Amino acid sequence: MVKVVVCGAAGGIGQPLSLLLKQSDLISHLALYDIVNAAGVAADLSHINTASKVTGHVGKEALAEALKDAHTVVIPAGVPRRPGMTRDDLFKVNAGIVRDLAQECAENCPRAFILVISNPVNSTVPIVCEVLKKANVFDPRRVFGVTTLDVVRSSRFVHEVKPQFEPQTNRITVVGGHSGATIVPILSQIKQVSFTPEEIKSLTHRIQFGGDEVVKAKDGAGSATLSMASAGARFTNTLLEASVRGTRGLVESTYVHLRGNPGAEWNARSTGLDYFAQDVELGLEGVANVLRLPDLSEEEQSLVKTAISELKGNITKGCNFVNDGT
Ligand code: NAI
Repeated sequence: MVKVVVCGAAGGIGQPLSLLLKQSDLISHLALYDIVNAAGVAADLSHINTASKVTGHVGKEALAEALKDAHTVVIPAGVPRRPGMTRDDLFKVNAGIVRDLAQECAENCPRAFILVISNPVNSTVPIVCEVLKKANVFDPRRVFGVTTLDVVRSSRFVHEVKPQFEPQTNRITVVGGHSGATIVPILSQIKQVSFTPEEIKSLTHRIQFGGDEVVKAKDGAGSATLSMASAGARFTNTLLEASVRGTRGLVESTYVHLRGNPGAEWNARSTGLDYFAQDVELGLEGVANVLRLPDLSEEEQSLVKTAISELKGNITKGCNFVNDGT
């Protein structure tokens, strides 16, 4: 039984995510941190009749206490998109928020697993890793960009086109990153159903830009929160299942630092990147094995190529923010 911290717990994602994590029997202490309203959310959740203790921590001065002894820190802190914005437009605000939270993690819970939800994930994960490197506490097995929403959308959208594809139990591999063209669902690997080239094209586009559907429908009130909370809880629970209960063979697609991670050399060589999302087997220490990219169709190879060139810029932007302050 472990302590899990949610940073940004009073937000659109943070609240339902915390609610879902309150159901976990692997969590003994759920610490909710935010710069506003975390005490109220914590008091509310603390009345739910599961065994975990819930505490609320408001404001910077309360962060160290929230992070102390954390096993896992989930970060959905920061601003979401509004119509017309890309995830990269959020960089200006969210980069600093994520950097400061990572610095506090380095000081207060250097061995914790850090799960980054705040966008742009393609850049915020490099920010976390660079901060931890500078503090000499970086372990590449312990930092994850949460791209599970792309996986969740993939199964759901495929099910809408092919109802015989069961969306809850069939997982689809999604590689690359977490924004538009960097999201590459590997539909060619789906064995249960077959697609026409037109279906592949439109499904791929819908998965890549699925987030825009929600931003548009919310019309200025933010981006995906409920589906994201569900996806974030799924990833957190899978990681806890592997790392706390020791269940083997659990695989999720996630965006991780490649160099230094078990099994990642092949993907690092073939992409030429330091960070990439792909299927990762989870274990006691976090990343147990980065799985090789699957065989790709010709179209998927070309999509991965486009993703790589976009990711390069996103990764450099995150690294430079920490190292040169630019
Ligand atoms: P929100 O605005 O509803 O909530 C964000 C929360 O973060 C607020 O409660 C705010 O007070 C808090 N916050 C701001 N600065 C903070 C700091 N320094 N420390 C701690 N908390 C702080 O936003 P929402 O909708 O919950 O989205 C949060 C982030 O998640 C956004 O960056 C959004 O783009 C991202 N996101 C990521 C997805 C993914 O697939 N990885 C999907 C959807 C959103």
